[in-house]
Amino acid sequence: YFRTMEKVLSGIRPTGYLHLGNYFGAVKNFLALQDNHECFFFVANLHALTTHPDPLSLSSSVKSVLAEYLACGLDPEKSTIYIQSDVPEISELYTLLNSLAYKGELEKCTSFKEKIRKHEENINAGLLTYPVLMAADILIHRAHKVPVGKDQEQHLEMTRNFAVRFNHRYGVDFFPEPQAFNFSQQLVKVPGLDGSGKMGKSEAEGNALFLRESNESIINKIKKAKTAPSPTEPNSVKPIEIENLFMLMGLVSSKETIQYFEDKYNDCSIQYGPLKMQLAEDIVKFALPIKEKIVDLEKNTDLLGKIAKLGAEKARESANETIKGVKNLMGLKSIWL
Ligand code: ADP
Ligand code: TRP
Repeated sequence: YFRTMEKVLSGIRPTGYLHLGNYFGAVKNFLALQDNHECFFFVANLHALTTHPDPLSLSSSVKSVLAEYLACGLDPEKSTIYIQSDVPEISELYTLLNSLAYKGELEKCTSFKEKIRKHEENINAGLLTYPVLMAADILIHRAHKVPVGKDQEQHLEMTRNFAVRFNHRYGVDFFPEPQAFNFSQQLVKVPGLDGSGKMGKSEAEGNALFLRESNESIINKIKKAKTAPSPTEPNSVKPIEIENLFMLMGLVSSKETIQYFEDKYNDCSIQYGPLKMQLAEDIVKFALPIKEKIVDLEKNTDLLGKIAKLGAEKARESANETIKGVKNLMGLKSIWL
């Protein structure tokens, strides 16, 4: 009966510590899906190569993301948890899919345009074909649902295009069309603390709140978060900086707390100091148990190793089935072996 269950897959790049954006945009949904889906969650270390990380920091980030996954509640008994580079079938499928992707569509991809704008000195082929590798990640297990944040919508659309193109070219219904997924119906974008854009690992210092951040540092960053002048008219529209603070409250604070500050905003009696203190307190409360688990897990290298090994074995089994099917369909079945 396992085979008929819908498959779920997602990954995060090991480019730094996980932050609240990663948690609420992605990991929270992973947790909710574990119990009634066949799930695959991985650490996307091949994807991290496009920015040329130094080898030591890359491998240490892989360990920290794995520990963070587990600390958040990903369960190796329920889900297949693995490191991308431990499953060579993914790279094989990437090669096979590359000829199905056109230069024009890859160049039009927003994340590509963004990255070449920011890193003119490093426009490599890996950046251009990033969406093909991501499609290989997803299609290798023929996944249906992909829990990700809003910024990944376009990559999912490209994955569907490649899947449909493959099915069409080889005249079969081999790959399902995977959909971006969030339980709240809408994909989430957690704002950063600098008043604009999303919370991200590689944004400016102070923009992101990390799961493992010390209480002190959480409080300091929230204190420094951008605000705007207080409202002077009742029920005015919130400026983006204030909207962002309320949005963060929406993730970690109780309904009553949020209502209390909404009312104060609406009758113009709000003070941003107390609002920030409350927000900081609720974030600290949320992050504390996860942080404690991260610290414990990172010390337990043996356990992390065992989990990665088991995950790679399970993932390769599933990946192999797909690769066999793909090679047969493409005329790559070996006549000699
Ligand atoms: P980052 O953008 O910090 O480098 P990744 O690109 O590795 O993080 O993203 C990993 C997952 O976390 C993806 O599913 C992405 O959509 C999600 N994510 C990252 N930042 C946010 C955010 N600010 N809001 C919502 N989801 C996010
Ligand atoms: N591209 C995603 C990001 O930057 C990470 C990722 C790589 C991913 N492969 C994936 C997400 C497959 C979901 C499914 O956040």
